[in-house]
Amino acid sequence: MTNPIDHLLHENRRFAPPEQFAADAVATADLYARAADPEVFWAERARETIDWRTPFTEVLDWSNPPFARWFADGELNVAYNCLDRHVDAGHGDRVALLWEGEPGDERRITYAELTDEVKRVANVLIGFGVEPGDRVAVYLPMIPEAVAAMLAVARVGAVHSVVFGGFSADSLRARIDDAGAKVVITADGGYRKGKVSPLKPAVDAALADRGGQGPQASVERVLVVRRGGNDVEWMPERDVWWHDVVPAASGDHEAPAFEAEHPLFVLYTSGTTGRPKGILHTSGGYLTQSAYTHRAVFDLHPESDVYWCTADVGWITGHTYVVYGPLANGATQVLYEGTPDSPHPGRWWEIIEKYGVTSFYTAPTAIRSFMKIGRTVPQSFDLSSLRVLGSVGEPINPEAWMWYREVIGGGTAPIVDTWWQTETGAIMISALPGVTETKPGSAQVPMPGISVDVVDEQGQHVGNDAGGLLVATKPWPSMLRGIWGDPERFVETYWEKFAAQGYYFAGDGARRDEDGDIWLLGRVDDVMNVSGHRLSTAEIESALVAHEATAEAAVVGAADETTGQAVVAFVVLKQSYLDRHSPDGLAKDLRVWVGDQIGPIARPRDVYIVGELPKTRSGKIMRRLLRDVAEGREVGDTTTLADAAVMNVISAQVR
Ligand code: PRX
Repeated sequence: MTNPIDHLLHENRRFAPPEQFAADAVATADLYARAADPEVFWAERARETIDWRTPFTEVLDWSNPPFARWFADGELNVAYNCLDRHVDAGHGDRVALLWEGEPGDERRITYAELTDEVKRVANVLIGFGVEPGDRVAVYLPMIPEAVAAMLAVARVGAVHSVVFGGFSADSLRARIDDAGAKVVITADGGYRKGKVSPLKPAVDAALADRGGQGPQASVERVLVVRRGGNDVEWMPERDVWWHDVVPAASGDHEAPAFEAEHPLFVLYTSGTTGRPKGILHTSGGYLTQSAYTHRAVFDLHPESDVYWCTADVGWITGHTYVVYGPLANGATQVLYEGTPDSPHPGRWWEIIEKYGVTSFYTAPTAIRSFMKIGRTVPQSFDLSSLRVLGSVGEPINPEAWMWYREVIGGGTAPIVDTWWQTETGAIMISALPGVTETKPGSAQVPMPGISVDVVDEQGQHVGNDAGGLLVATKPWPSMLRGIWGDPERFVETYWEKFAAQGYYFAGDGARRDEDGDIWLLGRVDDVMNVSGHRLSTAEIESALVAHEATAEAAVVGAADETTGQAVVAFVVLKQSYLDRHSPDGLAKDLRVWVGDQIGPIARPRDVYIVGELPKTRSGKIMRRLLRDVAEGREVGDTTTLADAAVMNVISAQVR
């Protein structure tokens, strides 16, 4: 993928929504005018999407920026809004989850059944001594219990920290430790690529006593779902099987009301330093924007649609568009445990045909990898039920967009390219599928009620046909409320750059085209985006230097045809290591090492062992030059290097 953005700007294809779609659309064009006063608009959305136990009278409190409070005197229970109220409204028999295990087992769970399960899990958590505000770590595969666990934590007013099952024991340990979790909810293992991938051993390793304070001190209980059937070690005073305690627990639980600003969850994401940050979200504003955007962007008709978002609950997309948005809206959705190609490359399309999926939300990386395999695979399934397609996590190049539209969407289903972040909590920029004329590759326009801009380094609006930095110019309901335990880092990371204007800085480059539509250009900081997942160069560098052979490391994100970006590492070895060992095979060992330290998604595509790294006179590594090499380009301007010859040597070595 040579920089697709250059030709994106000359993209002149436009696709109007199908007539019937527009006529029945949930979101209509008048929304933009109705959002002229965002606070009035969001207050209406908050009343229409949520059952408030205590109605709010205040909308936005921005008296202490950047710490926003939305609907602060209102009270609600988030889980009640996702469960009980649908049952109370007579929809208890509606299917909430159409779960498909990777081996082909299936479970259909109605709203009544899910509500009952969540009440029992809530009672189990209370029995463990979990109180409002306590943190509970969730480390589970994509099974219904993951959804139930998150909602049960929310129901009792505790704070969940879901850790993606692909993260290593060390990453899990760091997250449990930072949040000071009291309980961990996990499984023996889950199915991935046709095999059981164990989880409980990673929890055991994460909680191992390494001397002194650590997560082993804060975690009192580990609740374990049996899924993989793999053997696990057991600490009887700490570990409890889900199937022993959940069915036996009481199914009675009245959902207590919590303030709108009561914390709902922490989700760790990579930033520009080696230490992941715990992004904090709260209740009322988050649920409002999650539910509203889910309905509007996916044109949800809950009585007839079958929705499927392929994201794992370990990522923000799984939080907002698998758990909170869809369930608050009473949607019926598919939940799939496994990988797209197990046991055969048509697995996803088979699931769409089987359940008659109408609304499908996935990442460009997945679309590009299906493109590579070819259209005959999806074309052997009936995908005619699909009526709206979503994309998230990274820029989607026009070629992949067109393939998605034609091969998956039958040439008619509108595509919504949704831009947002862990920090924004919910969708910020997207077409409205029944309104917007879509344009391949562009995320296009802010959602009604959302104010974003593209500005220059000084914070000035750049106008059309110009590039700059993406900012949010006004607070929004689902915005992050902080970084767990680190308010200074919160201010510094997101608000300092445009402090004069009071803008939120997203860390993304963007461009407006001649129509004013927004195109995302990728991160402008040291955060990479691999397959739609955020990784920090600093985090991978620190994993590399933790290896006994490594003296120094520099990591860059290089353009990759399938994954958007790929991790490429340049490593300088310790002389003391070279004196004793041969470097043969070390590049491979280092790849595996990073996978073990952080998780397989962080494993570098390439590791180059080099003699020296390119540095400025002040000692800063010039990653730009390494990116040139990694992407096979002519190396750019080297005049600021302390030693200009270094790049010649590196280029020769890499070649
Ligand atoms: O660079 C942007 C990219 O993903 C980043 C946010 O990553 P994360 O917090 O992991 O959340 C991903 C899922 C919401 C953004 O800073 N990104 C997300 N959506 C898009 C995107 N880039 C281009 N187009 C998108 N639609």
